[in-house]
Amino acid sequence: MEFYILGTINSQPRFQRWSEKLNGHIDKLGRAIVAFRDRVGVELAVDLGTTNTRMYMRGRGMFVDEPSVLATNSVDGRPLAAGFKARNLIGRSPDYVALHKPLCAGVISDAGHAALMLRHLLDSARKGNSPRCYRMAVTSPSCGTRLERRAIIEAATKSGAGKVYLAPTLIAAAIGVGYKIDSPRARMLAILGGGVCEVGIVGLGHIIYSDAARVGGETIDYAIYEYLLHRYNIQVTMEMAEKIKEKLAYAESSLTPHETMRVTGREAGKGGLKSIEMGPSEISRAVETPINSIVDLIQEALDNCSPALLSDMENFPIVLSGGLSLLHGLPELIVRMTGFRVVVAANPSYTALKGCSAVVDDPKQHIHFLSQA
Ligand SMILES: Nc1ncnc2c1ncn2[C@@H]1O[C@H](COP(=O)(O)OP(=O)(O)OP(=O)(O)O)[C@@H](O)[C@H]1O
Ligand SMILES: [Mg+2]
Repeated sequence: MEFYILGTINSQPRFQRWSEKLNGHIDKLGRAIVAFRDRVGVELAVDLGTTNTRMYMRGRGMFVDEPSVLATNSVDGRPLAAGFKARNLIGRSPDYVALHKPLCAGVISDAGHAALMLRHLLDSARKGNSPRCYRMAVTSPSCGTRLERRAIIEAATKSGAGKVYLAPTLIAAAIGVGYKIDSPRARMLAILGGGVCEVGIVGLGHIIYSDAARVGGETIDYAIYEYLLHRYNIQVTMEMAEKIKEKLAYAESSLTPHETMRVTGREAGKGGLKSIEMGPSEISRAVETPINSIVDLIQEALDNCSPALLSDMENFPIVLSGGLSLLHGLPELIVRMTGFRVVVAANPSYTALKGCSAVVDDPKQHIHFLSQA
């Protein structure tokens, strides 16, 4: 920043010295402001997921952890609620409320409502005079198309972001689990989310391999919903289907315990309630297809590895992250099918946000992994 005193109001040497001194101070201040702005860098990390949206602010920590659902007024389109409040309205909303899930299979399917949802979540979590315009680092599926990446940028910009950076989910998750991305040894990780499962090999500062399948926890919920409807004529809520998955779905059939769960829903075609007692074996069979697609994705990544990559990975386990990695027996199944060691990351649902937050906290170290809008 430069400051000039125009004209020669007073050309006396004393005044000149004073003006030079002032210019010097202003120069210093300008440099300090630029340095501060660079140091502050990206202010907000956002993990925009099919099932959940999580946000982290530098200096504040995680302040949003809510379902990716928005409720609007169906007449004028005004946002009414987002997150848990909106999700609670599913199946219970009056006519004037429209519900939206703006993400599908890991990508934004409705940029307008995604922006409204982000804005609403940000506004509800705003504290006092926290800023209304942010620099945002948003996770973006590593295998996303250009159009899908543009949709994220559009939604983030409309939600109030002044500048948007895209953090590939694989890189964010790798940082989140503590990988040194520029390590000369390659490592494999799989991010198993609600709408998409990604698998990747990172090392030497790059994503060496990445692939994704548009299948995830919600696909499994839907398989359970369909099974109950066709086998028992029971229509359950997606919330109930999710609970059944968490309690009764086992990826590795040899691990299924002898426990049961009471499942209640609406009797399809008749109305009224219907309840049955269910065990894990039949639910585990009902969810085999989506689970096999996830294992195939990992197996295919291993099949595509060069001998050098395989020998690197022999020394490190495959790390699973994302909420679905908590599914009973999934790590055991992957070990049995691939022959590789597998570990589940600590707090796997938060790994991508954790990595994205590290970028926000120390932008200089990670900025080269972000692509800028
Ligand atoms: N204990 C558990 N057992 C099985 N599934 C679980 C468990 N906990 C969470 N999940 C599932 O994890 C999924 C959500 O994971 P996550 O929050 O990582 O997804 P997301 O980031 O919103 O989606 P995506 O990254 O695919 O767009 C949900 O389907 C949820 O039911
Ligand atoms: Mg995710």
